[in-house]
Amino acid sequence: MHTNTVARHYGSAGIAERVLAALREAKGADAAVTPENLAPFDHFHGRGVVATQEIADKLALQPGERVLDIGSGIGGPARWFAATYDVQVTGVDLTPEFCAAAETLIAATGLGDKVRILNGSALDLPVPDGAFEAAYSQNVIMNIADKKQFYREAFRALRPGGRLALSNLCAGPAGEPYFPVPWATTRDTSFLAPPDEMRADLLAAGFEIAAFHDITQEMREVQRRTRERIDKGDMPKIAVDIMMGERAREMQWNSIRTIDDGRGIAIEALVRKPD
Ligand SMILES: C[S@@+](CC[C@H](N)C(=O)[O-])C[C@H]1O[C@@H](n2cnc3c(N)ncnc32)[C@H](O)[C@@H]1O
Repeated sequence: MHTNTVARHYGSAGIAERVLAALREAKGADAAVTPENLAPFDHFHGRGVVATQEIADKLALQPGERVLDIGSGIGGPARWFAATYDVQVTGVDLTPEFCAAAETLIAATGLGDKVRILNGSALDLPVPDGAFEAAYSQNVIMNIADKKQFYREAFRALRPGGRLALSNLCAGPAGEPYFPVPWATTRDTSFLAPPDEMRADLLAAGFEIAAFHDITQEMREVQRRTRERIDKGDMPKIAVDIMMGERAREMQWNSIRTIDDGRGIAIEALVRKPD
């Protein structure tokens, strides 16, 4: 099954320890373990916490709301939302090592009463129907072959009127990505669909589309600038380096080339389950 291959691509031992070591290296041995201080190291997607902030702005979260993070990784965005907006976040992720790292970092940040993590699949979410006012998924849909089922499950988990914010890399017209990329070692676990197909699948699942933006240009510039600075030693390593180790540099340059050459289109969307 390709889901096992996805988890193998991402998983490795000692992730939380590496994140905490990166925090101490960047900010000193006594650095407070807070979602804000951890942000460069635990938001595992292009543009880091800036992209997470954009998702938050789209969702307009209210204190006390129940929020679902689909493909929550090591939980950086979930902790950041819980701490910043006083919401209750449930994260679901396929990769056991990511869920374990998320639990360690939730304990280290003292957010155990606000964030919970479930090891499971986005295609069969381990949550009841209509349990969430809001949901988001950042850079996960690229790993999903059955995207219609992904959107149907998100729809089921939301209450009527619930909002879903998405960031996703769609297929560009110029061909497939250059592998390996941060989300896949080979084409076997990379499933990019064109933006029109993403839109059509969301509508077919029952969502209304409130916003659908191509942010490829911003993505391209920020990723390139960040990678160049890390390669020169001008800034500390970021989440992708901690998670993917030695492979990160090649993966990120492949991701940048994929976008540069018209093989990837970055989309941010906000959709709504009708009342
Ligand atoms: C690039 S990481 C992004 C993690 C997190 N959203 C973030 O932005 O920090 C992609 C994540 O999607 C998860 N994932 C991939 N396929 C999944 C599936 N079918 N169900 C749940 N999680 C999945 C992976 O385990 C990984 O944690």
